[in-house]
Amino acid sequence: FAQDVAAGATSYKKCAACHDVGPTAKNKVGPVLNGLDGRKSGTVAAYNYSDANKGSGITWSEAVFLEYIKDPKAKIPGTKMVFAGIKNEGEAKSLWAFLKQYDAE
Ligand code: HEM
Repeated sequence: FAQDVAAGATSYKKCAACHDVGPTAKNKVGPVLNGLDGRKSGTVAAYNYSDANKGSGITWSEAVFLEYIKDPKAKIPGTKMVFAGIKNEGEAKSLWAFLKQYDAE
């Protein structure tokens, strides 16, 4: 698990321009990613989501995250997240392990 977290921290650099995590995280171009596991899509306070993201009906879990992050526009057509995705499932799993650290924030 520790190795996954370290690899995930490296991978997260691809997200960090648009997303914050951690105790002092703020919404940026994208919403804060704290507490993602179990969170309903489009529910971070004071973040201006697209209707597509807000209405996707997704509750985030590892399985759903892995589907989403490999091709965000396929999972949420109309998302305003401009990101090609992470095609490598090992990398995506590490990213989830990294994000799981912030469940309690
Ligand atoms: C939304 C993850 C990269 C911009 C989201 C959501 C997740 C996510 C899980 C949905 C959040 C929710 O429903 O509350 C990630 C991860 C990334 C990444 C893990 C890196 C691998 C990026 C990048 C950008 C970006 C690079 C900017 C160029 C956005 C925006 C939204 C969003 C604007 C809101 C989408 C909407 O309302 O339609 N991201 N993201 N993300 N992300 Fe990312």
